[in-house]
Amino acid sequence: MGKVIVTGGAGYIGSHTAVELAAAGHVPVLVDDLRNSEAAVLDGLAKLIGRRPVLHRVDCTDRHALDAVFRAEGPVDGVVHFAADKAVGESVQDPLKYYANNVGSLVALLQVMRDHAVRTLVFSSSCTVYGQPDRLPVGEDAPDHNALSPYGATKVMGERILRDLVASDPGWRVVLLRYFNPIGAHPSAGIGELPLGVPNNLVPFATQVAAGLRDRLVIHGTDYPTPDGSCVRDYIHVVDLAQAHVKALAWAEARTEATCEVFNLGTGRGSSVLEVVRGLEAVTGRPLPHLLGPRRAGDVPEVFGDPRKAGAVLGWKASRTLHDALADAWRWQQTLADRDRG
Ligand code: UFG
Repeated sequence: MGKVIVTGGAGYIGSHTAVELAAAGHVPVLVDDLRNSEAAVLDGLAKLIGRRPVLHRVDCTDRHALDAVFRAEGPVDGVVHFAADKAVGESVQDPLKYYANNVGSLVALLQVMRDHAVRTLVFSSSCTVYGQPDRLPVGEDAPDHNALSPYGATKVMGERILRDLVASDPGWRVVLLRYFNPIGAHPSAGIGELPLGVPNNLVPFATQVAAGLRDRLVIHGTDYPTPDGSCVRDYIHVVDLAQAHVKALAWAEARTEATCEVFNLGTGRGSSVLEVVRGLEAVTGRPLPHLLGPRRAGDVPEVFGDPRKAGAVLGWKASRTLHDALADAWRWQQTLADRDRG
């Protein structure tokens, strides 16, 4: 097996996927401008992979720089494309940033891939494309509800661009992976999420509260039509998610005709915000300071996915529990605290 380009490879999901690609015998080549990561991720990856992966410090909207990467690397088996901005709230404030970066980087990457006759791609999409689904668990064929932030719209557009491309040129083999809520970290605590500033997402914020870095978690809404009134999400361990990319790539490589196939990557199980709080309290062994607050604009009450298609077609299934993911998230938070103290 040869090289696989991983754009956003120094990021949260990208770095975990690089580890799993290497474990499966691929050579991950990272393309990342480190705008939302740190070069220190490479140290963690070097320990886990056994050698330091190559990193090209490139902005993926820069077509010429990307072309130089493909020229320098020679034959490449495929690409896993993570590089994107991902903060839902920020995308509402600054939509052009999201359209320019997320859509621009995809188009530039596809042009360069076409020029180099590399036409196998795994694309990071999101369950955000479903909005609030009518039926749960949501399957891949659910209609898109347009209840979308500009961030979500960039994922819908990305999927559309790829469908159009595959329709125009049967040489392409593309897999669209719709992630539910990735959490946790590598169990070794060698790599994990590195939120910049105040985390937007529940688990990194909550682990910072547990570590005493923030006073308290605010639960955004407790009057939703859900079993305990807080929002329900499908939290998936980032290592399970990473392993799905390896399966998706292998499946795409084995296709002999034009392919553009979408898969949900979730556990099939919903957990409420309050369950996550209780889970983290169980893991840390102490109460998590929290307040019951108002709803957060733009949140959908309840989403969890039907992962059966990925099971049947890719032979992939999430195997780690919410407890595993929270324990790994907490171990990672403690490692970060030790590093900051050291
Ligand atoms: N939450 C809190 N307090 C916080 C942070 C979050 O109560 O301080 C709640 C949210 O209201 C939500 C749940 O925790 O109910 C999960 O929130 P996250 O921000 O962790 O995740 P989201 O489900 O909002 O967003 C995730 C991804 C997005 C993606 C979206 C699709 O981060 O990239 O799922 O639904 F677009």
